[in-house]
Amino acid sequence: MKKTLIIVAHPNLETSVVNKAWREQLSKEVEGTVHDLYASYPDEVIDVEKEQALLLAHDRIVFQFPFYWYSSPSLLKKWQDEVLSFGWAYGPGGTKLNGKEFMLAISTGGPAEAYQAGGHNRYSMSELTRPFQAMSNLTGMQFLPSFIEQGVRFLSPEQVAESAVQLVAQVKK
Ligand SMILES: Cc1cc2nc3c(=O)[nH]c(=O)nc-3n(C[C@H](O)[C@H](O)[C@H](O)COP(=O)(O)O)c2cc1C
Repeated sequence: MKKTLIIVAHPNLETSVVNKAWREQLSKEVEGTVHDLYASYPDEVIDVEKEQALLLAHDRIVFQFPFYWYSSPSLLKKWQDEVLSFGWAYGPGGTKLNGKEFMLAISTGGPAEAYQAGGHNRYSMSELTRPFQAMSNLTGMQFLPSFIEQGVRFLSPEQVAESAVQLVAQVKK
């Protein structure tokens, strides 16, 4: 079975509905590690060596986060800037992530129909997540289909629970 690293980036999991439910379900059911970035680094000083060791110890990497301004919360961007370094993740000798799998799990406030040409947010999630696709490509990881839950503030508690079950199934596939 694949060892999976879930990197959760939510600045306030206490008030979260969806990402909290996802995190709890994944912790129970997925073989690997659920790594909560904001809890690990309250001062936002990232231990790069520790993060790189974590990556090396897993086969599949998942970024889980709420969509903030059409991207991830800022600590996950900082994590990428520092952990995915030249000569390690890309560039000469930068082959450490080659052959791993990469997946996104994203919740959005906006509903699915808003994320298309002519819709309120104009662009699709596949278009808006291109920087992650490009990162995956440059680091030699295989980009798997994303798990995206939309219009999350309208979900009932049952739908939130069901979403967590579906995410686990996709992460384990
Ligand atoms: C700073 C900020 C930026 C946000 N930007 C977006 C956005 O660009 N698109 C969107 O659909 N929702 C946006 N939202 C809504 C969040 O995605 C939504 O609240 C989150 O997915 C809910 O997940 P949670 O229950 O785990 O907190 C934003 C929320 C905040 C606080």
